[in-house]
Amino acid sequence: MIEEKISVRARGIKPSSTLAVNKKAAELAAAGEKVINLSVGEPDFDTPDHIKQACIKAINDGFTKYTDSSGIKPLRQAICEKFKMDNGLDYEPDQIVVSCGAKHSLFNVMIAICDEDDEIIIPAPYWVSYPEMVKLAGGKCIFCRFNSDYKIDIEHLKSIITKKTKALILNSPANPTGIVYTKEELEKIAEIACENNIIVISDEVYEKLVYDGKKHISIASLNDEIKKLTVVVNGVSKTYAMTGWRIGYLATEIPLAKAIANIQSQTTSNPTSFVQKAAMEAILADQAPVRKMVEEFEKRRNYIIKNISPFIRYCRPDGAFYLFLKIGQMTSTELAQKLLTEEKLATVPGDDFGAEGYIRISFACSMENIKEAISRLNRFAERIRK
Ligand SMILES: Cc1ncc(COP(=O)(O)O)c(C=O)c1O
Repeated sequence: MIEEKISVRARGIKPSSTLAVNKKAAELAAAGEKVINLSVGEPDFDTPDHIKQACIKAINDGFTKYTDSSGIKPLRQAICEKFKMDNGLDYEPDQIVVSCGAKHSLFNVMIAICDEDDEIIIPAPYWVSYPEMVKLAGGKCIFCRFNSDYKIDIEHLKSIITKKTKALILNSPANPTGIVYTKEELEKIAEIACENNIIVISDEVYEKLVYDGKKHISIASLNDEIKKLTVVVNGVSKTYAMTGWRIGYLATEIPLAKAIANIQSQTTSNPTSFVQKAAMEAILADQAPVRKMVEEFEKRRNYIIKNISPFIRYCRPDGAFYLFLKIGQMTSTELAQKLLTEEKLATVPGDDFGAEGYIRISFACSMENIKEAISRLNRFAERIRK
């Protein structure tokens, strides 16, 4: 009975495919199978101790009440410093809104910009939550094809822009491919956005996880015109192994920042008070733990690309901690199911990321598990080939 009362909007939302895989993998593990879980989307490192201590201190100091709904000013100041230092971007604290994770920041943006049937361009392969957020906000998802480098197909992008296009989502470094856009590529995208007056929602949560000495560039830093059209979204989850703490933030022009702050003030009120103190510590303190974590991810990535079978087609990740791959001609679901039942590898089907035939594996797990997983993947690929 109550089922009939659920809104059309809520009914249209897909459950997270990662969670479904986790459930199946847990069932197999409970039955005694040696399952390797490659579906995780979070660093396998602990949150650094100085960050935990800052949170404990805040609680002990009684910092446990409501705060400014956009986040406490010292944290927003710290975020401005971070933008200046890491990205060469000048923002004032009033342009920053801190939320309960970058996911929340992104959702707030969608609610703040989408009128019914406004079109939001989502380049494939995309993070699974983007389309669901757009749909929840009443917008319409327009998917952009990818080129042979797994990046935006520029000609296709130009062809799908209409009068109703409100925004383009850009994710670099990207989930699920690990691609990182170069300055030249970003310049092209920025030019198209400016010519057509389109907002760029730039999801930069994997900014610090880049390899081979490469550096992440924020599209907003290219020039003033694109900066004014960009909402930069970032957070502490991936950089500081703080996924459970739930702090994300965004920077944009003041009118949009104000609209988002209003939405937040009427929904979650503010991000958790004492976690804001921990996030401040994470952003302002010595970044050595981040460098150590990145080194470890790079080692794992290097092992994978050196040892993976030539019969597996994959996107070489320059960033993040995922490998997006294809084996044979199966659908994503078939491939993920076969890997789970035949090789006890839990992966995420790529069709949910807008790329049928692919699966995503994560290297946010121990080197020992990675070695065993790659050997199982290679064995599977050899078998399929015959
Ligand atoms: C591309 C991308 N953006 C945003 C997020 C959300 O991060 P947060 O934990 O800050 O909500 C994720 C998490 O998986 C992600 O992969």
